[in-house]
Amino acid sequence: MTQAEHSSLLLDVKGLKTAFHTEEGAWLAVDGVDLQVRRGEIVGLVGESGSGKSVTGFSLIGLIDPPGEVVEGTVMFKDTDLTTLDPESLRRLRGNRIAMIFQDPLMTLNPVLTVGEQMAEAITTHYPDEPRARVTERCVEALARVGIPAPESRLKNYAHELSGGMRQRVAIAIAMLNDPELIIADEPTTALDVTIQAQILFEMQKLCRERNTALIWITHDLGVVAELADKVAVMYAGRIVEYGTVAEVLAEPRHPYTRGLLESMPGMAQPGERLTQIEGMAPPLTARESGCPFRPRCPRRQDVCGQQAPDVSHDGDRKFRCHFPLEEAIV
Ligand SMILES: Nc1ncnc2c1ncn2[C@@H]1O[C@H](COP(=O)(O)OP(=O)(O)O)[C@@H](O)[C@H]1O
Ligand SMILES: [Mg+2]
Repeated sequence: MTQAEHSSLLLDVKGLKTAFHTEEGAWLAVDGVDLQVRRGEIVGLVGESGSGKSVTGFSLIGLIDPPGEVVEGTVMFKDTDLTTLDPESLRRLRGNRIAMIFQDPLMTLNPVLTVGEQMAEAITTHYPDEPRARVTERCVEALARVGIPAPESRLKNYAHELSGGMRQRVAIAIAMLNDPELIIADEPTTALDVTIQAQILFEMQKLCRERNTALIWITHDLGVVAELADKVAVMYAGRIVEYGTVAEVLAEPRHPYTRGLLESMPGMAQPGERLTQIEGMAPPLTARESGCPFRPRCPRRQDVCGQQAPDVSHDGDRKFRCHFPLEEAIV
């Protein structure tokens, strides 16, 4: 990493492990995640359901509750290791320097407050001296920025009076209210129809670019990553198995799992062609054996894959964990 890149580093996650304690013992939902996010950078965290994306996102900002626990690793946000912060300091950071957008906007929206009341509270909690008129002005601006028509009148609405797409826009507006440096978004458009999803992706990208906001966008959909992100981190069984720029990783995946994901994308097939499915299923994380967790599904597996988990290989800025990485572009 060059010095310029280093100075722009906003989030530096090293060796993050999150366990869930069960009667059969502890098992790792996140198993040694390394991830770096620079200022203003949009990172897509992609993988199948159950791969540990949400647990990773929640672990970064101290939102893991028992029986879950972050058991190892560091999460440096600028000069602070978030894993060492007390709950009150974490609360102060969240909704201010770091914001989270959840898949279900009702995790953000308070049913007993109007949109205006909740937004005003989100500002005054962190900026108690902000004049009342300015608070209202900022709420209206924030709603307008995420494409909400007639924002003044929306301030009087309760969440239950809004459509799903409108609720998610309000949740995004709340996340962006205090101009955070980092937003973690956990599949916020998955439940929305494709047209609204496309609009929200476009608006989020524009807002992040304008304000130099870093964004970690969690999704199971590589198509979303292709639209939105600068970098992509591909997650499998609690680990990041491939990382690089979206352009490089999508054009020339090095990990067989990434290629499988790409080939199973609808846009990749010619009309009439059968879609390639990745063989097998993601392993239950409780049944993890030694060796590469992708091995049972991998077309390139050899004996060593069952004996030893692959280390991270570096190729310039690209990283991948595979004993037998792909060399050729798929054309
Ligand atoms: N509160 C919890 N208690 C026990 N296991 C959990 C909990 N939350 C998530 N998990 C498990 O952790 C694994 C990763 O989950 P998750 O991060 O939600 O996957 P993803 O977001 O990639 O779909 C899954 O096997 C899931 O069942
Ligand atoms: Mg999830």
